[in-house]
Amino acid sequence: MPSVTYIAASGATHTVDVPLGENVMRGALYNDIDGIIGECGGGLACATCHCYVDAAWTDKVGGPSSQDERDMLESAGAEVRPTSRLSCQIDMTPALDGLVVHLPETQF
Ligand code: FES
Repeated sequence: MPSVTYIAASGATHTVDVPLGENVMRGALYNDIDGIIGECGGGLACATCHCYVDAAWTDKVGGPSSQDERDMLESAGAEVRPTSRLSCQIDMTPALDGLVVHLPETQF
């Protein structure tokens, strides 16, 4: 099962297994990782699953998967950067095993 490392703004780091076919938002929720809320359950309607993809992973993860994701990112509570993604839109694949994401200081 692929793993994902979540690094909080405080520096706290958690590495957990996230099943294939699940997404990075659910991986955080299933493991009680603070910093990702996922208020809308992955419906592209909240931006409380904002994360920053680690620079080493941006090529593999790619940019926003749709215009809807780009639009919703504008509602993010923290600064939006070139590496910003909505974690509910990053589906786990074997190629993303070891993925590292950074969590913003706030989701509101
Ligand atoms: S959980 Fe709401 S947009 Fe990702």
